Amino acid sequence: MKVVGVIGAGTMGIGIAQVAVQNNKQVVVIESNEEVLNKSQLNLFKTFEKLVEKEKLTSEEVNLYKNALTFTTDYNVLKDADLVIEAIVENLEVKHSVFKKIEEIVNDSCILASNTSSLSIASISSVLKNPSRFLGIHFFNPAPLMALVEVIPGVQTNYNITDLVKQEILSWNKKAVLVKDTPGFIVNRVARPYYGEALRIYEEGIADFATIDWAMTHFGGFRMGPFTLMDYIGNDINYTVTETVFEAFYYDPRFKPSFTQKRHKEAGLLGRKTGKGYYDYSEGVIQVKPIEDDKIGIYIFNRILCMLINEAFDALFMKVASREDIDTAMKFGVNYPKGLLEWADEIGLEKVLLQLTDLFEEYGEDRYRPNPLLKRMVYKN
Ligand code: NAI
Repeated sequence: MKVVGVIGAGTMGIGIAQVAVQNNKQVVVIESNEEVLNKSQLNLFKTFEKLVEKEKLTSEEVNLYKNALTFTTDYNVLKDADLVIEAIVENLEVKHSVFKKIEEIVNDSCILASNTSSLSIASISSVLKNPSRFLGIHFFNPAPLMALVEVIPGVQTNYNITDLVKQEILSWNKKAVLVKDTPGFIVNRVARPYYGEALRIYEEGIADFATIDWAMTHFGGFRMGPFTLMDYIGNDINYTVTETVFEAFYYDPRFKPSFTQKRHKEAGLLGRKTGKGYYDYSEGVIQVKPIEDDKIGIYIFNRILCMLINEAFDALFMKVASREDIDTAMKFGVNYPKGLLEWADEIGLEKVLLQLTDLFEEYGEDRYRPNPLLKRMVYKN
């Protein structure tokens, strides 16, 4: 592939354009808002200069990249594209109108892709004349730094096209994983309990935000505790992802959103971007210290981890992705210290199952039901 088109010069589009151009592609970036287009181009060029200062790129490389990039509002530049990745607003109707337009311009062999996080590949492809050349290519934010890319064929995608795209993304030095077109794909599905179970533990009054965060970083080796992470992502965005996944799974109680997060969102306590979330980021504020009680900490860590492992087993059980890809996705899409399935092996599947069974018996709630595959694997041994 020589020419890559990127639609949308927002957060994701500009990051994807940077990745593609640094992998020696000719990149055309199309953005409907001229102001955003100019600003994004300027910001990308500034990023390149910073990388030169840090000696990560040479001036010659940057000149090459700048020459290989075209920024425009005109879709006609897509006529020579081999691959088009759309990263515009998350709205099905808008994506439909854009893809209808693109299909009129590109050549027959051009592959079309969406970077959507929450819409199904099947639903976006429904307006295409040739849906067999369309699939999902889901990058993580920030695209130049996050190694994971989820490659998602829809029900109508041609197998060879999926394979070709996977190989192409691998050649961009990314970890490409293959995922079934299901809500949240791998990462946004399997990671839900990291937030949901932490919120539940808080709501039950077992521990405060700081203590839950401490438990996960101290005992689990996670880079950020769930509340620090939700404040970082933004409570509005994180809540919306949970709500979308919950609805898409026909209101499966495993994915039930939390009132605590909803209230934080409603109150405008969105996290770092508004200066307050679960924590107060105002200058001079002394943060609440965790209660470093090992017994509570271990309980919290074990409970959240076994819920994450159960979710990873469910993704494997429902053939969302291979065992290896599920572990790769969590390590490189959300920087987990270990893959959840390898972690389960390390702990011992019997122990994980016992913990889940205890929770299920104690609460009698469906969200704690142990996955059938996990049960089968334990009983078989
Ligand atoms: P954004 O709002 O930062 O950027 C979208 C850009 O598309 C805007 O600059 C907008 O002016 C432009 N746009 C809208 N309609 C257009 C059109 N018809 N033609 C050309 N440009 C158009 O959004 P963001 O965050 O970059 O998200 C883009 C896509 O990537 C969404 O589908 C989102 O679900 C997905 N995504 C977002 C992630 C994130 O962390 N922000 C992570 C992974 C995927």
